[in-house]
Formats: sequence, structure tokens, C-alpha cells
Amino acid sequence: MSDQQNVYPVRDDFAANAWADKAKYEAMYQQSMDDPEGFWAEQAKRLDWIKAPTKIKNTSFARDNVDIRWFEDGLLNVSANCLDRHLEKRGDQTAIIWEGDNPDDSKHITYRELYARTNQLANALKELGIGKGDTVTLYMPMIPEAAMAMLACSRIGAVHSVVFGGFSPDAVAQRVIGADSKLVITADESVRGGKHVPLKENVDAALTRDGTDVCKNVLVVKRTGGEIDWKEGRDVWFDELVDKQSSECEPEAMGAEDPLFILYTSGSTGAPKGLKHTTGGYLTYAAMTHQYVFDYQEGEIYWCTADVGWVTGHSYIVYGPLANGATTLMFEGVPSYPTHGRMGDIVDKHNVNILYTAPTAVRALMAHGENVMDSSKRDSLRLLGSVGEPINPEAWEWFYRVIGNEKCPIVDTWWQTETGGIMIAPLPGATPLKPGSATVPFFGVKPALVDNEGKQLEGATEGNLVILDAWPGQARSIWGDHERFVQTYFSTYDGMYFTGDGCRRDEDGYYWITGRVDDVLNVSGHRMGTAEIESSLVAHSAVAEAAVVGFPHDIKGQGIYIYVTLNDGIDPTDELKKELTQWVRKDIGPIASPDVIQWAPGLPKTRSGKIMRRILRKIAANECDGLGDTSTLADPSVVDELIEHRANQ
Ligand code: PRX
Repeated sequence: MSDQQNVYPVRDDFAANAWADKAKYEAMYQQSMDDPEGFWAEQAKRLDWIKAPTKIKNTSFARDNVDIRWFEDGLLNVSANCLDRHLEKRGDQTAIIWEGDNPDDSKHITYRELYARTNQLANALKELGIGKGDTVTLYMPMIPEAAMAMLACSRIGAVHSVVFGGFSPDAVAQRVIGADSKLVITADESVRGGKHVPLKENVDAALTRDGTDVCKNVLVVKRTGGEIDWKEGRDVWFDELVDKQSSECEPEAMGAEDPLFILYTSGSTGAPKGLKHTTGGYLTYAAMTHQYVFDYQEGEIYWCTADVGWVTGHSYIVYGPLANGATTLMFEGVPSYPTHGRMGDIVDKHNVNILYTAPTAVRALMAHGENVMDSSKRDSLRLLGSVGEPINPEAWEWFYRVIGNEKCPIVDTWWQTETGGIMIAPLPGATPLKPGSATVPFFGVKPALVDNEGKQLEGATEGNLVILDAWPGQARSIWGDHERFVQTYFSTYDGMYFTGDGCRRDEDGYYWITGRVDDVLNVSGHRMGTAEIESSLVAHSAVAEAAVVGFPHDIKGQGIYIYVTLNDGIDPTDELKKELTQWVRKDIGPIASPDVIQWAPGLPKTRSGKIMRRILRKIAANECDGLGDTSTLADPSVVDELIEHRANQ
């Protein structure tokens, strides 16, 4: 395949007007490599500091001393940077456009209104006994109160842990316990695609689990007015408590390295880990990447379709845009409701200029044909963005042509929960685009490809993607388990941050992410550990053993393929498949729904008992001819049996 086939040159209007053209990108990138201290000292000035930092970079990736600090003697407050400092110039400008699930519901919230309500909420949190260093779990719909809750926590120095509203009660319980949260903020119900999701009921169930008694209060937004149980003394209505508070709340002076939030994400082993992100470096990085990658210009309407439950929502719905004084659109619903043209309709309704979405959303639209967007014109769009998984060139071209009317550059942004912000992406005024490539590193990011021994590979090649030096937005630790942080990211290759991704670099130095090289799945851009799903399955009384792998899926990118060995005497029926599907959905959440379950009388194992996932992946992908060496298997006949009964997907 030639990478040169489809190169989209930088558009002249972008080269002339964007924040960075090619020469500026190259000069700034070089400076960020040659003099990171000077570069980031300058960038930190984009924030308002209570005390400006004098120590800029103090970082070590050495396996025996992983320690990452940026701007460590600086003091600042994140909410003051996202709100207070904008009041004078843009107090009456819309900060958040909220578009409800129902197309008739939307509202605009100005910076002044967002400031006032956030302060009231911050005072309410104080009344509930929350203070600096306490953790608060948010389990919320996509409503403005979610952004307010994040900002209110940051105002008083509390640490938020947002749990995606699609997760199960057990997942909520696990995260409440893991973060030691005194408070959960939720809503009666969320509304997505016309359906109600019982968030409060899920919280009630979560808080019956052992160990959750750390949580003293539940603050409940009335979103639908749906019926809910009420626990006197614990549950508090959001509006009742918040309405009566003062709209002034002094922002807490936080150290740059004080934690801002915890965000749980899946890894290849064990339970999800809570990444710890801190204050000064994170905000500097989120704001800078938002400005340059999306080329955000004053007054533009910017829409990121992610959920605030994921890192994309943190950095590019809330913190980056608000730090930059942008107008950020928050959408409660799903792109397919009430029609598949909804995304385009929202763009027209609110004159969206920048649209940041996921390949899976694009592929889902593609499946409905060229005319799926005909109800909208999308003339306001200037730039498109993609995140969460590799975008296949076909989807890229379709996104460009059908959604962007062949006039909007697409910034394919590679990054991770751990990285805090965008790491590899084009700048629209500087970088020619190649469909399917996240292109080149952002300022301050030093990527490299290594072989399995950690040897750096030069030139056009393929290998494991690592980052060689620290950048301000990166996670500092795993909450409560620094050793696991070191083990997961810094012990595979000493002195390097290991991303878990495979990657190819072409002759122009462009990076092409090829997907995870570990046991992490990426299903519709949602990250999941195979081990998590397996441990859920083996907790079912019928299951003796389970192995989970990903397989190529047209819309989701990857689907979930499960091999299940049943206990003796259990009948492998279709009913049981349905039951196991429900079991996983209930245990983890609907995003972990299996796509395929295959009964496996035996699993391919090495003589030492290790499951050979490589073989299971091949069978799931229907690549049964290229199974490679099976001679080390304890019982090679198991493989023939699996191939013979391969499930019809
Ligand atoms: O495999 C990469 C993939 O998503 C993983 C990170 O997932 P998560 O922490 O949930 O964050 C998603 C949103 C930032 C990465 O290790 N990934 C993310 N963006 C891209 C991508 N793969 C290819 N191209 C991308 N643009």
C-alpha cells in the first residue's frame, strides 16, 4: 500500500489563518524538544496562576523512580481558569450549549451563569462536608450539571471521579470504594434515544455493596421526575440544596501537582485502574491542544460528541474548551435518535464550526447510505476531528465527503486516558493529511517505535509505540497504587512510557496506529480489558472457564468474541447464551455486551496452562488458515474442534 495515494494538502485558508502553519509548527516543535523548560514555561502563561511556577519540569521515567512533576511550585485554581477570568470579556457569551435527547430541548448557558451556578454548587458541596482532597463520584447524564459538578469540585479542591452513566451498579460500587468517595452526584434518570436509564436506582444498588459505607450522601439532579426511592438523611435534591447557596465561592489555591481528577480505565490485567491527573500541567496541556489541534478561533461553536464519562469529555468538552473561553456543545442523546441525520441537524441548529467525533459513529452513519445526512446542510462546519480508535481510510473519506462537504480538514487525534490530551495529530494549518494516519506528534511529544526488547527502530518501520519524555498532561499515578502505575507503563521498556499500542511510521515520519498490542479491546471506541469480562463470566455458576478476544467488526471496530467452557453437566443452549449476555451486561454494563459466544469444550493452552489467545483471535477473525505454530499446545485437537464449530457471527 502506498501512503502517498491520497494526501490532502493543507488548505490555503487554514495555512493563512490557523494558529500554526507549517513553519510555525516546525519551529515550535523543535523548540519544545530542544528546550522543554523554556517552551512549557511560556505555555503555562496561558493560565492565570495565583502563584506563577518557577520550577517547570521535574520528571523521571526511570523504572526505579517514576516521578512526574510539572510547574510544581505554582498555585492555581482550575475553575477560576475556566470561569472567573472570562467574565470580564465574555461573561455574556455562551459557555455551554446543551442539546437534549429530545430535539425540542436545548438551552444556552453563559459564562456568567455557569460561574454563578458552579459557585453555588461548590458552596453546596462544602455544606455536605466536602473539602480539599476529598473525592466525589459523578454518575451523571450529559447535562450541564455534570460540567458544573466537575468545575465545582475543582473550585474547592475536591477530586472528581466520573463514572460513565452506562456502567453497572457493581462498577459504580467498585469505583466509589476505590476512590473512597464521600459523595455521589447523580440524577434520577438519564435519557438517551428516548429511553430512560435509572441512574439513581443504580446508585442505590451500588451503595448496598460491602465497603460503600464511605459514601455519606447522594446529591440527585431531577432530570426526568421519574419515580425513585429516597433514603432520608443520605439523599439530597440538587436544586433544593444548590438554589439557596451564595453564588460567590472563593476558589481554593491548589498546588499544580494536587490531584484534579481520577478516571478509571481498563487495562490488560486486573480491575480497572484509577488514573490520577493533576492540576497545572493537565490544564495547560488540555487548553493548548484544544487551541492548536482544533484551531479554535474566538467565537466559534465547538462540539465534541463524547460522553463526560470518558477522558475525551473531560479534556475536550469541559476543561480545554472552557479554559480557552470557547462555546462548547454538550449533547445528551445518541446520534441515531430520532433519526440517523441527528448529528447534521444539530450542526445546523447550532451553527457548529468544529465537530469532534468517533470512527464508530461515522461507520454507523455510513451503513445508512450516502443520503443519511440529507436533512442538514452542515455549511457552518470548518473542521472535523476523530478519536478513540483507528479510523479506516474508507470511513475517513466518507466523513470528509458526506459530513464535511469536502471542505473540512479532519484531525485524527491519537491519545489515551493516561495521556490527558492529544499526543499525535495533524495541525490543520500545518500538516498535510493522510486518511488513516494520526500523522505527527504534538508539541513536546517525543514518540518512538521499539521492538519487543525495547530497541529503538529508526526510519519507516513498525513497532511498539512508546513516548520517550514527559509531557505536562500525562497521568501521574494510579490512585492509591503507584507501583501498579510503574509496572503497567514504565517497566516494559525502562525509561520509556509504553502506550500499549502498535504503530507504523512511514517514510514521511507519519504515525499510523495499528491497535492495541495487549489484551485490551477497543469496542466502539470504548476501552475494555478482556480479563474484566472473563472474570465476570467465570463468576456465573454454569461457567468453568472463559476466554475473551476481539474480532474485526464493521461498525464497532472491534467486537467481543467469547469462548466459554461450561461446567460438567450443563447444557450448552441458546437460552444460556442469552443469560450469559445479560449477566455481563448487568455486571459491567451494556458496553461490554458480547457479540459472539462460542461453546468451547476445551481452550488451546500451552503445557504450562496459559491460554493461547493468538489462536483464539485468529479463529474469531475467521483466519483459520494462518494459525501459526500450534505445536506447543498441550492438546492441539482442541483447535480443530473450535474451528469446526466456529460460531456464525
Ligand atoms: O488504542 C488506542 C485507541 O484508544 C486507546 C485509548 O483509549 P482510551 O484511554 O479510552 O482513550 C480514548 C480517547 C482518547 C489507545 O491506546 N485510540 C485512541 N485514539 C486513537 C486510537 N487509535 C488510533 N487512532 C486514534 N486516533
